[in-house]
Amino acid sequence: MNSSRQDTQDPSRKPPASRRLPGVAPLVLETPPDASYALLDSGNGQKLERYGPVTIVRPEGQALWRPSLPDKRWREADAVFTGDTDEDGIGRWRFPRTPLGETWPLDWDGIGFHGRFTSFRHVGVFPEQAAHWRFAQEAIAGAGRPVRLLNLFGYTGVASLVAARAGAHVTHVDASKKAIGWARENQQLAGLGDKPIRWICDDAVKFCEREVRRGSRYEAILLDPPKYGRGPKGEVWQLFDNLPHMLDLVRDMLAEKPLFVVLTAYSIRASFFALHEIMQETLGDQGGRLESGELVLGSEGSDRKLSTSLFSRWIAP
Ligand SMILES: C[S@@+](CC[C@H](N)C(=O)[O-])C[C@H]1O[C@@H](n2cnc3c(N)ncnc32)[C@H](O)[C@@H]1O
Repeated sequence: MNSSRQDTQDPSRKPPASRRLPGVAPLVLETPPDASYALLDSGNGQKLERYGPVTIVRPEGQALWRPSLPDKRWREADAVFTGDTDEDGIGRWRFPRTPLGETWPLDWDGIGFHGRFTSFRHVGVFPEQAAHWRFAQEAIAGAGRPVRLLNLFGYTGVASLVAARAGAHVTHVDASKKAIGWARENQQLAGLGDKPIRWICDDAVKFCEREVRRGSRYEAILLDPPKYGRGPKGEVWQLFDNLPHMLDLVRDMLAEKPLFVVLTAYSIRASFFALHEIMQETLGDQGGRLESGELVLGSEGSDRKLSTSLFSRWIAP
């Protein structure tokens, strides 16, 4: 247990909510294939995807089944993640056809950003998050009042750009200087340089503790923490230890008239019911509704679904 941080047994935690929120669990949010992104096939522990014009092969532990497409289609991929730990960054990718650069142009709903070959098989965007981007965009555009959105663990910032374009004043927090640099590049690429976005490189828990002390408030909060992570000064983030405290901080930063809180979690040994219950315990007395489940990718040309992550979203009354 990480003693330097508040933990679940902490007596200073507020009592659990007394009211039970209505809502839906499970709710499956599916991102279908489109011009920006498509899951072309999956199987034998791998997935074949198209990001804009580029097709790539990456490992996918959940793909226990056999691929649907012929081998030839997989061999025609533009990039293959090798995971060769002797290499770094783009070095961990093989380009069977023509050598490609580190980045390539991508777009979601008219917002331009970079795809990027990174060390960790990530490519600078999580396409299944489109379900959250669409939800946030509609809620912000429909609010009819100023919206301050906080995007915690924001990575390359596509969600921040979507929210800013919809009219929100955005605060984007990530511990990685590199990710913040990529996010700023994406802001220029998207032609949203004039939009009010604060890019903050900091530890998410520390940042939120300071915001609570300052009395800062947000109408909308997105958080997509990794299972394990580190802040810029080595602060340790362990989802199972630190999420309850983080959600207490989130509740304490909610504005008088909030809109929503969206939590996503990847590759954790837990069900969406776990996220549902901790959100229920923390936000139950705020009223509104709670929807929890999985983000899945639909396949092009087949009915197969690939689950990517768990989520829980609280929608204000
Ligand atoms: C799964 S990614 C988030 C993806 C993002 N939501 C998106 O849709 O693009 C997790 C992010 O958490 C950041 N991170 C890890 N530990 C952190 C910490 N202690 N404080 C703030 N950010 C952290 C990483 O740098 C990484 O960008």
